[in-house]
Amino acid sequence: MNRICELFGIEYPIIQGGMVWCSGWRLAAAVSNAGGLGLLGAGSMHPDTLVEHIQKMKAATDKPWGINIPLMYPEIDKLMDIIISEGVKIVFTSAGSPKKFTARLHEAGIKVAHVVSSSKFARKCEEAGVDAIVAEGFEAGGHNGREETTTLTLIPQVRKATTLPLIAAGGIGSGEAWLATQVLGAEGVQIGTLFALAEESSASDEFKKRCISIEEGDTMLCLKKISPTRLIKNELYNKIAEAENAGASADELREISGTAAAKRGIFEGDVEGGYLEIGQIASAIKEIKPVNAIMETLVKEYLDAKKSII
Ligand SMILES: Cc1cc2nc3c(=O)[nH]c(=O)nc-3n(C[C@H](O)[C@H](O)[C@H](O)COP(=O)(O)O)c2cc1C
Repeated sequence: MNRICELFGIEYPIIQGGMVWCSGWRLAAAVSNAGGLGLLGAGSMHPDTLVEHIQKMKAATDKPWGINIPLMYPEIDKLMDIIISEGVKIVFTSAGSPKKFTARLHEAGIKVAHVVSSSKFARKCEEAGVDAIVAEGFEAGGHNGREETTTLTLIPQVRKATTLPLIAAGGIGSGEAWLATQVLGAEGVQIGTLFALAEESSASDEFKKRCISIEEGDTMLCLKKISPTRLIKNELYNKIAEAENAGASADELREISGTAAAKRGIFEGDVEGGYLEIGQIASAIKEIKPVNAIMETLVKEYLDAKKSII
């Protein structure tokens, strides 16, 4: 038992990161039922959709689960009202100031974790009174820290900056990597890419197949003028990279991307014309597996690795 397992009431300190267009109730419930913490990714849900997923989640598991909300979400107040009135117990916030909602969520008896990409923001989390910190290196899929700090560099420094329970994220795709982050001072892991490519993920098959075919170096961090995002190099990425090299403005980059680029790439399977958001570790994933098999492998690899280094 460690502090992350105690805080969330889970068997393994494995959090499935909230992910737009991937982590609906099927994925989150499968992870919670397998002993980790499943998170609904509210960042791609309209308020009504969130209510539907909460209801389905309640029916699909009696284990602890939570919701991830990127704080830049336009209808954030509505989502927070839903979360409180539906009696959700755990919220992971990201992409914004932890000061904004932590007190309100705590008043409603909700545990709060916040995602950061630097020690500076980890200290802000402590001031805001969050219950746990997710420190995410820029290997990660999705939106990332613009300073490009890697997980290996970030975790030991965040560990020194705060005494809060610490969850490592970014580039973790095996039990060995989980153990490595524990050695660096983390008490749990948040995994995105590996679960985005699970059978239960709501991402399209086209997206998953493209992701498991990539090699090292096939994803890049781009769009720093809008929000730094890691994308697979495809036709849309090439247009963005060319425009960025020519000094394009944020508005020009938005225009090139078009509306709902993440939905197009991840959910609708437009693998050349949409954003293919995935982490560097996708290059090590070669199969689409069910969550149960992923969880079993992670735990076995972790235990074997622990034995082998003593
Ligand atoms: C497709 C995709 C969508 C994501 N969407 C979100 C999101 O909505 N909110 C968030 O806080 N993080 C998001 N992330 C980040 C994950 O929650 C997680 O922290 C990250 O993927 C961990 O690194 P990894 O991809 O190397 O495992 C996303 C990641 C991916 C791959």
